[in-house]
Amino acid sequence: MREGKRDPAIAVFLAAVFVAWAMLPIDGADGQEPVMQLSNGFTATHSADAPGRFEPVLFAPNGVFAFGFLRVGSASLDLAVVHLPSSFPLWRATPDRVADWSRPATLSFDRRLVLTVPEVGELWTTLNVVGDTVALLNSSDLVIRLFNGRGTPWRSFENPSDTLVLGQNFTMSSPPLISKNRRFSLRFAKTYMALHMEFYGGRTRPMYWQYTAREAQPENATQPPVYGRLDSRGFFGLYLLGGDQSVDMLAFDTFVRNLTGAFRRMTLDDDGNLRAYYWTEGSKAWTSDYKAITGPCELPTSCGAYGLCVPGGAPKCQCLINSTASISPPCRAEDSTDLCAGGGGQLFDVVRRNWVSLAYKEQLPFETYKTAAECEQSCAASCSCWGAVYNGGSGYCYLLDFPVETVVYEADDRKVGYFKVRKAQQQSAAGRGMPPGVTAAVVVASLVLASLAVAGAFIGWGRWQRQRRAGGVGMEQELTPGHYRDLKSMDSPNNSFKT
Ligand SMILES: *[C@@H]1O[C@H](CO)[C@@H](O)[C@H](O)[C@H]1NC(C)=O
Ligand SMILES: *[C@@H]1O[C@H](CO)[C@@H](O)[C@H](O)[C@H]1NC(C)=O
Ligand SMILES: *[C@@H]1O[C@H](CO)[C@@H](O)[C@H](O)[C@H]1NC(C)=O
Ligand SMILES: *[C@@H]1O[C@H](CO)[C@@H](O)[C@H](O)[C@H]1NC(C)=O
Ligand SMILES: *[C@@H]1O[C@H](CO)[C@@H](O)[C@H](O)[C@H]1NC(C)=O
Repeated sequence: MREGKRDPAIAVFLAAVFVAWAMLPIDGADGQEPVMQLSNGFTATHSADAPGRFEPVLFAPNGVFAFGFLRVGSASLDLAVVHLPSSFPLWRATPDRVADWSRPATLSFDRRLVLTVPEVGELWTTLNVVGDTVALLNSSDLVIRLFNGRGTPWRSFENPSDTLVLGQNFTMSSPPLISKNRRFSLRFAKTYMALHMEFYGGRTRPMYWQYTAREAQPENATQPPVYGRLDSRGFFGLYLLGGDQSVDMLAFDTFVRNLTGAFRRMTLDDDGNLRAYYWTEGSKAWTSDYKAITGPCELPTSCGAYGLCVPGGAPKCQCLINSTASISPPCRAEDSTDLCAGGGGQLFDVVRRNWVSLAYKEQLPFETYKTAAECEQSCAASCSCWGAVYNGGSGYCYLLDFPVETVVYEADDRKVGYFKVRKAQQQSAAGRGMPPGVTAAVVVASLVLASLAVAGAFIGWGRWQRQRRAGGVGMEQELTPGHYRDLKSMDSPNNSFKT
């Protein structure tokens, strides 16, 4: 895992696990070739005590990708297509109901792919699809095919999770890219692509970044919609659907360098930024060569809920409200329900701040008022409104119909903000905190699971080495559960600002 210091007890424990595993017979070591195709009737059961984080069941012919059971976070199970050299999951099934790693789960193929957990039932399936075989292509596309080249009724490329790879078409009718923490999405409209925050289970999704294809003509009704595709030459190309007519491209930093042979991905990260990364042979880590949003304060939740981001050489987080949290950020737990439920009685306190603005105000609807008081009043009167930001210069009043996230400091007297803060009883009723005993137990359990994960990583890697020449199934690098990205990490060289 990422921790620099290792606990000697854990090290000893790991060594013991490793030795124990090394003495077990390894499947595939008897000269069996890796599985390249699944046929009807296939089943594989994940073993609940498997130490690795990834159990492959199907390999791409180039040996770079595999499909199998993936352990997510400390205890969840998912199906994933993994880029083996980096251990990065390029695609995940992401069932609505999360499966538990500690229970046996079965993956079967019987005209459709199904993930089943005994006594729980089907957790995930390729609905309404009938096919004959399953294969993983050299591109990392997981496909269900019909015999005799009669078609491909299902492919993972048409059902993305948080990542796009080379050659994968992303269109208006594709399901959106959703970040791992499920708080952000990327969607295409007819002539533009946009990033959205997801609130209330997707009922409200304010846009915070938009990119319109330069040569698309929004007023031309007969022009087909735009779609996007990552190109190995180092750009994200925008084309008109039904052909390859280019209408724009987002060039990455490596575009001018003529970098050939790199594997590329574009991922909607948990901080809400859309980044492109590449991996070359012998790489130790993914290198980012593009990000949609360059300034840390322009990310919609850079300082968490009720945070105030102060831009500058080293951007800083403050709180809009008096924070009870000992660490800052976040200033306050995220709110997940609106303020319309309460019936009688005011459910919120009010905070007013001047010198504040919103990084994405251009994407928000606004009303025009002569005074800040009128703007405030418009928000106060509506229970779906969480706050309003007023620009005394233009008279624009931006209304937030979603829980308050990070606002940005702007040294301008005329920019004022009005924010509702759910009253404390309401907040604690939402039940975010855990009693200290539970917290300690969780910490201990996480440590044990984390050490198992590292052990599994070594084991999986050794296993893969034995089966193939290259690659590893070491899961430590990219599979750490989503953590809060503070401003320091946004500042790190891996995410360095474009100049
Ligand atoms: C996939 O990659 C392997 C190894 O690089 C190669 O032999 C095979 O021809 C490729 N398959 C396709 C369909 O390109
Ligand atoms: C509208 O788009 C279609 C298809 O791209 C094109 O053939 C046509 O010339 C366009 N019309 C105008 C007025 O630009
Ligand atoms: C993506 O779209 C292009 C152009 O329409 C097409 O040639 C290509 O086969 C598509 N790729 C995939 C993986 O579907
Ligand atoms: C880029 O690579 C191509 C093919 O490998 C080569 O023909 C071209 O000259 C290269 N361009 C530059 C600027 O290096
Ligand atoms: C924040 O704290 C200050 C001083 O401790 C107090 O005057 C103010 O009313 C507090 N504001 C809120 C919203 O609780």
